Amino acid sequence: VTAVATVRLPKTVGVKGADLALRFMTADDRAAILDFAGNLPEHDLLFLRRDITKPEAVDNWIRGIERGIITTVVADSEGSIAGYASIDRGEVDWSPHVAELRLLVSSDMRGKGLGRLLIQEALAHALSTGIEKIVAQATLDQKGAIASLEEVGFKAEALLKDHVKDRNGKKHDLVVFSHDVAGFQAELERYGVDEALAD
Ligand SMILES: CC(C)(COP(=O)(O)OP(=O)(O)OC[C@H]1O[C@@H](n2cnc3c(N)ncnc32)[C@H](O)[C@@H]1OP(=O)(O)O)[C@@H](O)C(=O)NCCC(=O)NCCS
Repeated sequence: VTAVATVRLPKTVGVKGADLALRFMTADDRAAILDFAGNLPEHDLLFLRRDITKPEAVDNWIRGIERGIITTVVADSEGSIAGYASIDRGEVDWSPHVAELRLLVSSDMRGKGLGRLLIQEALAHALSTGIEKIVAQATLDQKGAIASLEEVGFKAEALLKDHVKDRNGKKHDLVVFSHDVAGFQAELERYGVDEALAD
């Protein structure tokens, strides 16, 4: 696990012809994140775990970053945000080894591999900080999320019935995915994450 401490951001990646900068989010991204959230499709807005269209939610997020609880990798496309992946270590005393992964890609950038790149950088960062287990949550109709998570080795670990109420008041089952670090190194190699970690 020590080997992955060499992860290096910022870096520029090419995603289907567009150059994007992958870098850590700071308080300076507040307005760009609100713009990004304001342009999300209706279906995504139904399922925001925290409603990041609201400035207070983004302020809380930034406080989490500044306190070292959350680390967010953003994909910056000439000043606008094309997507992000967050690692949230939380503040629960009995789970110092567990972090949550959350991610979102703008609708016009989906299906181009950006989600995978963001997940790779976020997981690499989590590993470099000694995290042993990573969880992610998705409702059953978040097909893109489920496919992206399974593709990098996450497995469904729990199903919480009627756990999410969407903005229209409809309840949905929530799947908790997890990824343990024991099997992670192999996944890193298999999916080229080791390249993301190389100097
Ligand atoms: C989940 C999300 C971030 C994926 O981002 P993305 O940039 O579209 O993902 P990628 O293009 O890197 O796709 C990664 C893999 O997942 C699969 N995938 C992605 N979207 C899919 C979809 N809608 N249906 C089926 N498979 C899909 C693809 O098979 C792809 O592998 P491939 O390149 O071998 O085909 C994006 O769909 C999103 O923002 N969704 C809404 C929010 C959300 O559900 N967040 C997750 C909460 S943890």
